Amino acid sequence: MKMRGIVQGSSNGAIGCKMLLIFLMVTKPIHGSALGNVLRPESEPNLEVLTCPGKCVCQLEAFNELPIARWVNHMARDYGDDSFLQQPTHTKLATCLVQSQDEWQELRDYLPTDLQALILLYTGNVENQLAVNTSSLRPLNQLRTLEIRGTGATLIIDDPLEFLQYANFEHIRLQASDRLQRPKFSKLPSDDYEYKPPSELLPPSEYSTKYPLQFEDAASDIVTYEQHMQRLKQTRMPSFFGWGRLEVLRIVGCKLDKLHWQMFDGLTQLRDLNLERNSIEELPPFAFSGALQLKSLSLAHNSLRRLHYLGLAGLLQLETLNLADNRLERLSELSFPPLPKLQKADLRSNPVRYILPGTFWVMNDTRELRMGSDQAALDLRTWFIYGQFDSLNELRTLILGNVSTETLEQGVFKGLYRLEFLKLRGKIHSLQFDVFAGMEHLRELDISQCGVSELSMDAFMGVKRLKFLSLSHNNLTNIPHGLLDDQQRLEEVQLQGNQLKTLPTSFFRLPLVRVIRLDQNPWQCSCQMQYWKPYLTNVVRGPIVKRCVKDINGDPLSCRHEAPYETDRSLVPRCSNYNGRSVYYVLRKQLHCGDIQILQPPSHNRIGTRGLPLPHWRKVELHEEQSKKATPRKITHKPTKQRNTLQFVLRQQNQQPHPEPLELEMSNEI
Ligand SMILES: *[C@@H]1O[C@H](CO)[C@@H](O)[C@H](O)[C@H]1NC(C)=O
Ligand SMILES: *[C@@H]1O[C@H](CO)[C@@H](O)[C@H](O)[C@H]1NC(C)=O
Ligand SMILES: *[C@@H]1O[C@H](CO)[C@@H](O)[C@H](O)[C@H]1NC(C)=O
Ligand SMILES: *[C@@H]1O[C@H](CO)[C@@H](O)[C@H](O)[C@H]1NC(C)=O
Repeated sequence: MKMRGIVQGSSNGAIGCKMLLIFLMVTKPIHGSALGNVLRPESEPNLEVLTCPGKCVCQLEAFNELPIARWVNHMARDYGDDSFLQQPTHTKLATCLVQSQDEWQELRDYLPTDLQALILLYTGNVENQLAVNTSSLRPLNQLRTLEIRGTGATLIIDDPLEFLQYANFEHIRLQASDRLQRPKFSKLPSDDYEYKPPSELLPPSEYSTKYPLQFEDAASDIVTYEQHMQRLKQTRMPSFFGWGRLEVLRIVGCKLDKLHWQMFDGLTQLRDLNLERNSIEELPPFAFSGALQLKSLSLAHNSLRRLHYLGLAGLLQLETLNLADNRLERLSELSFPPLPKLQKADLRSNPVRYILPGTFWVMNDTRELRMGSDQAALDLRTWFIYGQFDSLNELRTLILGNVSTETLEQGVFKGLYRLEFLKLRGKIHSLQFDVFAGMEHLRELDISQCGVSELSMDAFMGVKRLKFLSLSHNNLTNIPHGLLDDQQRLEEVQLQGNQLKTLPTSFFRLPLVRVIRLDQNPWQCSCQMQYWKPYLTNVVRGPIVKRCVKDINGDPLSCRHEAPYETDRSLVPRCSNYNGRSVYYVLRKQLHCGDIQILQPPSHNRIGTRGLPLPHWRKVELHEEQSKKATPRKITHKPTKQRNTLQFVLRQQNQQPHPEPLELEMSNEI
């Protein structure tokens, strides 16, 4: 059945079509004629009329307005590349709902050959399978984008679609056909990959700086029977060999359980690869060696149990790596190869208990790291002279969930010199002195809901740019005097939900402070609290709003984003010794404290100004110069020393044995 579809250029048309599309998706596929012959808008005289088979909705629209732009652009936005987001030309898209094999075969021949994007949604039942051959799509050689979705559909890869740029397969099966051409004389990654993690360097030599993969010609290899059998097995594995223009490939929820480097061989343009929600258990060595231009790779929601550095070897352009929700238990220097451009690493929801030293030595440009899972608590600790975050010199954001550490010690965050944002959740009994020392750029520190009971008065020493500090919903009974001496830039302090009875007056002397949350604490009210200010305690920062100065026509001249502070009387701190009445009421009506004394300006002489309870850890070298304390020794990586001491450290950790090198059969000649 052939009919005219919709052509549109005006925004009205666009809305109409989207509504139709939604209508079509929620109801059974309707007969094509229901879409009617929409008149061509006169403002777009150059657009050709699309022929559109029944079962399909056709659109001609700016690429970014199409539903496919969502996934095409998604990952690119992740690494901040919007150069290609503005695709100026219009794209011809057909969205087809198919319920059976017959329907597909009928429809296929009527798809316009100049179609640029095709979305195939299988809506039939799971038993009544739909199989689509890639060879049957080859006549559509203008196709740039292909999306196939729907449980029960299978894509049989029997011919490369060398013209495709963007491919998305969701909840379908991918199958290779016997006649699929495989790379015959492909260059295979060789064993000569030069990177070796420091502990594998035998004898200790210079830290190798040559990371690119070396390739060797495999054509002359003699094949053993086992290799032959393995090859046979791999012929059933789908391969995108020959899809040379592919830039974005998503294979999501497709029950993929094995990966092999052959799958992605020759994808030299591939930028984004998303393999989320499959059942991948292992990354074979050099799995992505055919797609070395990858900028983003997601293997989230799979079953990866371990990671060996050869699995990701060669991805020198990679900027984002998502390994969230796998089964990785251990991270060490054997986990990652050099990823010199990696910006973001998401390792959440992996049952990692320890981060062994050296794990991140290869991520020296990474800006953001997230870890923590509900299956295993992460023990933050120091490893002799090594920190677990060593070499993350450029890290700006660190988010760690389910940390379980009795005491956060000086040195646990060593190496994070440029950190700006740190968020911890879990169980942490106490914070030791200088635990954040060296983080001169730290702006936001959030350690709430961690059960923190004890704080060294020098916990935040050396951190001088903090704007936001949250210690809310912990178990603090006491805030040491002098805790915030270094925090002259603080704008917001959150202490709500603790066991606090008193507060050092210095809190209300912070020069830039706008919010001091003190509610949900059993305050013992006394005249000491007459310095408290309701406009600081009963206030929250509202959502960020954009404010613009407008010109006479109402057009914005200049805009800025700001977070207004909003008064909220329910946040008023209350006195447990006065029946839970508001602190300010008690001060005014019950305590009659007399004149407010003039507050002393903050003293810069740290010694002698505090007379109240001593901190839990008092630094012995308290009177040494502060600058000395604020800049901890930077550890330079000297490979020889590293090796020896690292092994020494690891030997000391008998209870957590060094991860034995994985027994990898490095059979590259397949
Ligand atoms: C796939 O292609 C092969 C070869 O062209 C053909 O024999 C087979 O019937 C096709 N299968 C489907 C489901 O279209
Ligand atoms: C990361 O380390 C590599 C190799 O040691 C070096 O070439 C590169 O410049 C480093 N990058 C940064 C940002 O320090
Ligand atoms: C933290 O990990 C432990 C397992 O060690 C688990 O029982 C607990 O529920 C986790 N907590 C959170 C908040 O996820
Ligand atoms: C809080 O502290 C009290 C007394 O110091 C202790 O009994 C309680 O177990 C602590 N609660 C948590 C959640 O750590």
